[in-house]
Amino acid sequence: MRALARHPRALGPHVSFFPVDLRNGEGLEPAVAGVDVIVHCATSTKGDATATGNLLAAAAASGSPHVVYVSIVGLEAIASWGYPKAKLATEQLVRDSGLPWTILRVTQFYDYVYDNSRKLSHFPVVPVPAGFHIRPVDPGEVADRLAHLALAPAAGRVADMAGPQEWDWTQLLRSYLNATHRRRLVVPVRLPGTRAVRAGGLLPEPGHTTGARTWDEYLSATLRPAAAPSHR
Ligand SMILES: NC(=O)c1ccc[n+]([C@@H]2O[C@H](COP(=O)([O-])OP(=O)(O)OC[C@H]3O[C@@H](n4cnc5c(N)ncnc54)[C@H](OP(=O)(O)O)[C@@H]3O)[C@@H](O)[C@H]2O)c1
Repeated sequence: MRALARHPRALGPHVSFFPVDLRNGEGLEPAVAGVDVIVHCATSTKGDATATGNLLAAAAASGSPHVVYVSIVGLEAIASWGYPKAKLATEQLVRDSGLPWTILRVTQFYDYVYDNSRKLSHFPVVPVPAGFHIRPVDPGEVADRLAHLALAPAAGRVADMAGPQEWDWTQLLRSYLNATHRRRLVVPVRLPGTRAVRAGGLLPEPGHTTGARTWDEYLSATLRPAAAPSHR
């Protein structure tokens, strides 16, 4: 098994690291040579379409590997925003690549919600987008699902994946603040251009698969080493 990224990292046994920059194609050719499946999770705030185009071209030159791509539930509801627009374009590149493909759309990861909550809680007054209903999911369970899809034949767009509970973003933030013993004034703010999201646009489509791990389980496991109250 191979892991491709720009920066080396600790990896499990039987995984070789290949330094690759997908944006300029450096290191890409040897990294994809002879592979049967590529699970494409790389992303950046900018340049994902270029990066994915380079990956798909190198993959096609090396043979006909199955490309498994992870995307985001409800992209159409936020299609005017920069990153989702790029995700839609990137999904299309995968569909048009001529390679066997599978696309899994998933909801927001717990670690994304956690990081955002942690950053926002540095402020005494915390603005939160009003009416954002999401079903965040455990990233480990998403990884398991991607591995399962990678070992199966190409399946096109498969059922969305979401977490077990629907939350309002404000509730999620409040639960983080409670769990970390912080007191903050949480102010829901209605953002322009978010009508589709407030109508449930980020929720998964019927027939989606559901992760088992709850946000509360993730939160207590993540906070366990630093369980003592911090500051108020
Ligand atoms: N986070 C969420 O809540 C969420 C929700 C739904 C779907 N998704 C999707 O899941 C995927 C992973 O998201 P994530 O939030 O886990 O991302 P992440 O933590 O930012 O990780 C992105 C990875 O891409 C690599 N990367 C970035 N630019 C690269 C480049 N030019 N060449 C090679 N590797 C590059 C990074 O490694 P280096 O920096 O070392 O290169 C890193 O390992 C994305 O497709 C995202 O859209 C995420």
